[in-house]
Amino acid sequence: MTTQKLKLGVLASGSGTNLQSIIDACEAGTIDAQVCVVVSDNENAKALERARNHNIPAFSFTRKSFGSKKEFEDAMLKCLEEHGTELVCLAGYMRIVGATLLEPYAGHMINIHPALLPSFPGLEGQNQAWEYGVKVSGCTVHFVDDKMDNGPIIGQIAVDVREGDTAETLQKRILEQEHKLYPHCIQLIAKSKVKIEGRKVKVSSSS
Ligand code: GRF
Repeated sequence: MTTQKLKLGVLASGSGTNLQSIIDACEAGTIDAQVCVVVSDNENAKALERARNHNIPAFSFTRKSFGSKKEFEDAMLKCLEEHGTELVCLAGYMRIVGATLLEPYAGHMINIHPALLPSFPGLEGQNQAWEYGVKVSGCTVHFVDDKMDNGPIIGQIAVDVREGDTAETLQKRILEQEHKLYPHCIQLIAKSKVKIEGRKVKVSSSS
């Protein structure tokens, strides 16, 4: 019997190592999902090259070529929908998602953040945590809502800060955990194990 695969549309602005971890998990069959399209706001994003290396349709939309944020997001939305996207995964997408894109995918859009939310939202959460001097940081996957790095949390992995760490070594260890956490959370959704209840996400343990 073939399992129905959850169709993912991934939004990425940069290097796309999280995208790669998702593609690899899909191809290995460890998650019941497939990346049906990759969309970027940066035509030079390495994420686009990663997608094309796996024969995944990949498109870039430059904000400057559109008269308004709404028109820009309308174009991205159309692209996601045309490729059958069921779940939007933000993977290093460096823009705040507006209502045009968010509303059609409310409850079906997730993001990964390199800190233990609600601590250190915003840009470079790993570096903020490092500068603050925390002893434990980590990463978070959460649903996207209309505030930055704010929606209900699906999963988190803690990463200890070690004596001798630098911002770079900590960032690297957090990124390694991101590459495990993101596919894991996608699989929870693919298996319908995730239910949003207000601020909380209930994760069922049934197989
Ligand atoms: C990751 O640290 C992710 O948590 C953050 O942006 C970074 C993207 O890295 N949102 P990559 O493009 O997936 O390598």
